[in-house]
Amino acid sequence: MRGNLDKSMEKETFLMFFAVREQVKIAIDMNKRYGLIKLAGQNNMSQVTTLFSKTKIDYSWSFSDKTRKDTAYITHGYHRYPAKFIPQIVSRLAEKYTKKGDLIVDPFGGCGTTLVESKVMGRPSVGVDINPVAVLITKAKITPINPQKIEKSFIALKAKLNTYNKDTKVKVSEHERIDYWFKLEEKKKLAFIFNEISKLKDQDIRDFFYCGFSNILKNYSI
Ligand SMILES: C[S@@+](CC[C@H](N)C(=O)[O-])C[C@H]1O[C@@H](n2cnc3c(N)ncnc32)[C@H](O)[C@@H]1O
Repeated sequence: MRGNLDKSMEKETFLMFFAVREQVKIAIDMNKRYGLIKLAGQNNMSQVTTLFSKTKIDYSWSFSDKTRKDTAYITHGYHRYPAKFIPQIVSRLAEKYTKKGDLIVDPFGGCGTTLVESKVMGRPSVGVDINPVAVLITKAKITPINPQKIEKSFIALKAKLNTYNKDTKVKVSEHERIDYWFKLEEKKKLAFIFNEISKLKDQDIRDFFYCGFSNILKNYSI
């Protein structure tokens, strides 16, 4: 029997289905107007809408039984990211359409869900993203680091951070929008953390901590 959560997810799936259908209509209209893509056959619009109206919704793709914890295993929960998909979608698609050793490419890789799952499933992968923060997160999520090395660095970093007090002199970034996002005290503390991370010698460890740093920024902004 389905609970209330499942019901609302079903509704969302329906809404998504209709939204996708609308997007397809718009894409076909644009294509007719500008001739960007050559689609096979005439009357594509009706072909596609007929196909969509006959397509039965497969609710198993909603993964409505999955909790936040289920979707944040291994490194998936390192960093929040807008519109990321859940790893279960990637692993199911990879299972269905690829075999061990096949190359998987995600040209809009975001925070690296595809690359993490590909690694777990023994598929080499390539991710591309226009956003440097997405690239940083992905790198932190797929780069293995010796746990003892990272623990040692973390203990040393924490000791440095504990030396901070309100009189600590900090070089703060001069970005034109920074005062819009952060109050002075938060700005100083964050700059202090950032500067200490920047001093770490090992680049993989530095990127790992930059990733954690980036993930806390939203909590400290106005
Ligand atoms: C919805 S997110 C992908 C999320 C990803 N599926 C995940 O789970 O993390 C879409 C990504 O496409 C990237 N993007 C948008 N336009 C792009 C472009 N022209 N080239 C490369 N990446 C682009 C955005 O920066 C964003 O990270």
